[in-house]
Amino acid sequence: MALSSQTTALAQIPRVHIFPTAGEAADAVAEHLLATVKRNPKSVLGLATGQTPRHVYAKLVHAFREGKISFCDVETFNLDEYCGLTASHPDSFAAFMQRELFGLADFDPRKTNLINGDVQDVVAEARRYATRLKESGAVDVQLLGLGTNGHIGFNEPGSASDSHVRVVDLADETLSANQPSLIELTSVPERAITIGIADILHAREIVMLATGSAKAGAVRRSLREAPSTDCPASFLGTHQAVHWYLDNAAAAEIG
Ligand code: F6R
Repeated sequence: MALSSQTTALAQIPRVHIFPTAGEAADAVAEHLLATVKRNPKSVLGLATGQTPRHVYAKLVHAFREGKISFCDVETFNLDEYCGLTASHPDSFAAFMQRELFGLADFDPRKTNLINGDVQDVVAEARRYATRLKESGAVDVQLLGLGTNGHIGFNEPGSASDSHVRVVDLADETLSANQPSLIELTSVPERAITIGIADILHAREIVMLATGSAKAGAVRRSLREAPSTDCPASFLGTHQAVHWYLDNAAAAEIG
């Protein structure tokens, strides 16, 4: 992929692209995803929710509206979902995806794989999602955001590198970090289903987008410290094709 002229590749850390602003970092991620889908319209994309990818999704929608891309043959897998919420609940990740991306472009609902948080048997739902993921073969590009505590998906500190789809308890730091994003709920659900670190590492390519000063410490630990369960994103260092897209604020501590 041709990288933007604003890209700074650190010699000692391959594939770290640093941009002056969060908007420019997100633009570059959107270009990365668009190039993937143009190369292979049947791409399998792993998608994240949260504040960070919103601008990326807006760019994808813009490209679709301008007639530059179609997503009708793309298959998607979301990373995670809160337990206890229906897909139509405004705070569910399913509703987020509908609002920010799926409902605004030509994605085929039969190909947008989401975890159902509204089930009695969450373990069975995790098993169902793991099976779907396995059936798809491999995710071509996995988009990730970064928790301030270094989580990826909802693989909180302590998660093993060989973890798979499962039910997890969210860390206190995650509950606090996600509180301001709530639309209707008054508190963040304490449990979620997430794909595991091994599932994330199984993707052919990984694109991490981290922006803002709140992420600087987690970015430093992920890139500068040895892979460890203390900082789940540090395991990305064991993957052959991971791209970090950062703004200056998130890159501030990697020196
Ligand atoms: C979301 C997810 C999380 C977020 C992370 C960053 O599906 O799995 O790992 O990517 O918590 O969230 P934001 O972007 O809101 O800072």
